[in-house]
Amino acid sequence: MPRYSDDTIERVRSANDIVDVIGQYVRLTKKGANYFGLCPFHGEKTPSFSVSPGKQIYYCFGCGAGGNVINFLMEYENLSFTEALRSLAERAGIELPKEGDGGEARGISELKKRLYDINRDAAYFYYDCLKSSEGEQGLRYFREKRGLSDHTIVHFGLGYAGKQRSSLYEFLKGRGYDDESLKSSGLIIYDEKRISDRFWNRVMFPIMDPNNRVVGFGGRVMGEGQPKYLNSPETPIFDKSSQLYGLNFARKSRKGRLLLCEGYMDVIALHQAGFTNAVASLGTAFNEKHARLLKRYTDEVILTQDSDEAGIRAKLRAFPILRDAGLNVRILDMKGHKDPDEFIKAEGAEAYEELIRNAKNAFMYETSVIRSRYDLSDPAMKTKFYDELAERLCMFTESLERDNYIQAVSHEYMINYEELRRLTEYKFLRSGTGQQQRISDERKREETERRVVRMEPSGSSEGKGHNASLKAQRLLLSWSSSDQRIFEAVSRHLSPEDFSEGVPREVFIEMQKESISGGIETSRLMGLYEEDDEKRSSLCQILNMDTGYKAVEDMSSFELDKAVTRAIQGIRRYILDKRAEDCGDDIGRLQELFKEKKELDKLYVHVGEDGETA
Ligand code: CTP
Ligand code: MN
Repeated sequence: MPRYSDDTIERVRSANDIVDVIGQYVRLTKKGANYFGLCPFHGEKTPSFSVSPGKQIYYCFGCGAGGNVINFLMEYENLSFTEALRSLAERAGIELPKEGDGGEARGISELKKRLYDINRDAAYFYYDCLKSSEGEQGLRYFREKRGLSDHTIVHFGLGYAGKQRSSLYEFLKGRGYDDESLKSSGLIIYDEKRISDRFWNRVMFPIMDPNNRVVGFGGRVMGEGQPKYLNSPETPIFDKSSQLYGLNFARKSRKGRLLLCEGYMDVIALHQAGFTNAVASLGTAFNEKHARLLKRYTDEVILTQDSDEAGIRAKLRAFPILRDAGLNVRILDMKGHKDPDEFIKAEGAEAYEELIRNAKNAFMYETSVIRSRYDLSDPAMKTKFYDELAERLCMFTESLERDNYIQAVSHEYMINYEELRRLTEYKFLRSGTGQQQRISDERKREETERRVVRMEPSGSSEGKGHNASLKAQRLLLSWSSSDQRIFEAVSRHLSPEDFSEGVPREVFIEMQKESISGGIETSRLMGLYEEDDEKRSSLCQILNMDTGYKAVEDMSSFELDKAVTRAIQGIRRYILDKRAEDCGDDIGRLQELFKEKKELDKLYVHVGEDGETA
């Protein structure tokens, strides 16, 4: 892909101080050498988001988000690399070379830009129609049929598509857009006979992405008629499977949780009633992408989908997906009302607040659904019900958590606790799923730990020595990134093979290259993993390893020498131990290694001098 040269990227990056840039979005407070603030990428109450002016990187100890100033802008503003770079260049008054971006990359981002413009202009067009005499019917529909205030109508930018079949087309052509772009926007339909608007005679709901850009529309018939809702098709800027309606407002609600409902009108009614943390997945099934998106902003989701069969299915489907994404899930029971919109109209906002307070833990909700399927007056059915409960309880692989749920369930359905516990434990231990789940849960945990450091190829499980070595590697890399002398000392004693495969070794090699070409620039290291959020996250974690330690500049040279020596010894010792394991009965080789280990004990590294020896 054609792109800007490394030099250009570096010039733009170094002209934008990361503390200044992030400071525009996040309130930062200085603590020691670093700045801290509330992470903008996940909901939190105590700051775990750090910005290092020295290393010019950010890293969140809570969610692992991390990178340099370009990565921050990409993530925060949802921009492509090129878009972020352009924005930073503009900020610093740097003129970007024209030849840097030709071809494909430019085409895509130019088209995207045009699609954002078209959607924004269309939103204004529909909004103006609603306010004109032509839109009277639509305005009445919103006000009278749906009970929306004028403030709400403006807030959500609601609009109206009139009865004419091509007024949007004419408007947009008048604004100078070409047919190719209009076609890609999906707002205009081109067929053999004619060109016409997708939406007409409908009230319009602009769909905004988390950065308040209009990316598509939903249009509803006023009254009965099919289809009830018509939506924009997928376009380069509108990916339905990762879009949540209302998230642009909800992400700023700071309510500590998000409400997940089903439709446009539910979100709007909830926001109007003060529940500004409501979002909806747009007619598409809830999926992992949605869950990850939510996890960025909160730790708890309350499911408040419709109370009909389909709504119940939607809740039961979303629950495990959200749970796997690490979210706490509760479910709201709307007591016979169809959806939040209708509930609030009938019972009021306070009653809904009460529902939120009483929202059931999702697992308990699931059991109540199961219960409704059995006739408990029939002893055989009752046994089956208990059996199914016990089976479901096996999903909690932590014994303490499982026990809590066994208690809750036995209390709820008046089942003898001991009996239910015995049944559940029996199933958990015996059933393949229980076993497997336990194993897979352990694997998942290991995988998470591994992901944090990306040290070992999956599958290998090594012991304590390995962990100690990893920690030492991370510490040395972190120190090296802030002090070239430490890197030089480390390089004299360690080679790439001493570092674990994956991120640590790759970073060490990159540092070697950097140090030859004029010094290590931490934030430039991020370029290694521009496209790989996970690896970049572990890189940032590594580079922030020293945060809990005394700052390098505050250490006496004696302290520093000792710390570096100890870390190098730890890494080498592990390598020697591993070699010893591999050499079987070869006594001669073992003796050699033993001697090497003895030598290692005597090692003393002087940081900042080249003449040291054992
Ligand atoms: N939906 C859709 N296309 C349809 C029907 C529904 O895209 N033909 C999506 C819309 O996003 C809608 C959501 O599914 O908001 C929920 O649909 P539904 O429960 O039928 O509608 P409500 O939101 O209750 O709409 P209203 O209150 O306006 O009848
Ligand atoms: Mn409804």
